[in-house]
Formats: sequence, structure tokens, C-alpha cells
Amino acid sequence: MKVKNLVITGIALLVIVLLIVFGYRAYLNGETSLSIAQMSKKKILITYYTRTNDTSKMADTIHSLVGGDMIKIEPEIAYPADKEAYTKRVSEEREKRTIVPLKTSFPNLKPYKIIFVGTPTPLGITAPPVKSFLIKNSDNLKNKIIIPFIIYQETNQAMGAYRDITYFVPNSYVKNPYFTGENITGSKKVSTERWLTSMKFKRYELK
Ligand SMILES: Cc1cc2nc3c(=O)[nH]c(=O)nc-3n(C[C@H](O)[C@H](O)[C@H](O)COP(=O)(O)O)c2cc1C
Repeated sequence: MKVKNLVITGIALLVIVLLIVFGYRAYLNGETSLSIAQMSKKKILITYYTRTNDTSKMADTIHSLVGGDMIKIEPEIAYPADKEAYTKRVSEEREKRTIVPLKTSFPNLKPYKIIFVGTPTPLGITAPPVKSFLIKNSDNLKNKIIIPFIIYQETNQAMGAYRDITYFVPNSYVKNPYFTGENITGSKKVSTERWLTSMKFKRYELK
């Protein structure tokens, strides 16, 4: 009788432990969304490259909603204003898979939890300075949430830029991308707000 009771108690305890362990894992894997106010309490960095200021307008809009620090990524040698010369340089950099040297020095990225990364899509790719930033810092960006905002002229190419970003930082959580056409106006604030509030995060990503 005594042995029987011990066995039953043991099984009951095992079941409770399993429920706690698996329940907690399911809880961690579950998705949660942050309100803009909650997001603003995280240490946020907004970083981007821009040549004709479309991407910087989007960066300003995001910044006005979530705050945080904002850094423009600048290449050591600025890109030409002339469209043809710009195309030629980006095209060469794409061919040679160049990691362009950057003029911008970045602060310690460790304290930042969420990093917004903005890029235009010259020739359908992530702007080379953004690629440089991500590749050079891929170790520092490990386990961080990277949220791309991508400014395009042709929708189908924006997806390519997003895919690039996921390759550049394979150990980060790249998610919740925002794609928008190049005509950045005040009305974008409403859709930006909607995008921010619709974001979903796994609980373990927010730890
Ligand atoms: C030389 C050049 C090539 C471009 N190529 C593409 C392209 O292939 N696909 C695309 O969607 N947009 C392309 N664009 C459009 C830019 O991505 C778009 O204008 C963007 O808003 C520029 O952002 P910025 O003002 O922040 O530099 C190109 C723009 C330039 C100047």
C-alpha cells in the first residue's frame, strides 16, 4: 500500500514538473506585441543610410514615435549626386561584393535591444553602407531585434533588400519589416504608427 502511494505521488510530481517546464517553454515561444509606449522604454537605435533623404524622413517619423538614438550611416567616400555616377559605383560595389569603409563611428551597441535599420534600394539591393554596418557589426548585433525599413521604387526589389539583411546578420532576429514607396509624406505617420503597433515579438527575443 505504502509503495503504491509513493508511486502515485511520484507520478503526480513528475506530471506537475513536466507541465511547468513545457508550459513555460510554450509561454516563452508565444508571441506578444508591445505598445508604442512599451517599445519606447526599450533602448532603441534608429540607423539608416540616405542619399536623397527619403529614408531619413522615415527615420524621423519612427523617431518621433518611439524615440531612441538616431545615427545616419555615412560612407567614407560620399556617393555622387549624379545618378549615372551613383549607378556606376553601386554597380561596381555589387559586382565586387565590396564592404565599403564607413565614416560613421558607432557607439557601443550592447545596450540597444531594438535596432531599426533603414535603407533605400539602389539597383534593388541594400545600400552598400547599410550592408557594411551590418556585416561589420554582425557579432555585436547577435540576438538583437533588427527591424528593417526599406524605401523602394519597385516593390519586388524591396523584398530582395530584406532578404539581404537577413543574410548579413544571421544571428539577429530580423523581423517586422516596413516597405514603403519613395514618396515619403506626412501621411506616412499613420501607417508607420499602425506598423509599430502591429509588431509581434517572441517573448525570448525581448529578454
Ligand atoms: C541610381 C538609382 C538606382 C535605383 N535603383 C532602384 C531599384 O533598382 N529598385 C528600387 O526599388 N528603387 C531604386 N531606386 C530608388 C531608390 O531606392 C528610392 O528613390 C529611394 O527612395 C531613395 O532613398 P533615399 O532618398 O533615402 O536615398 C534607385 C535610385 C537611384 C538614384
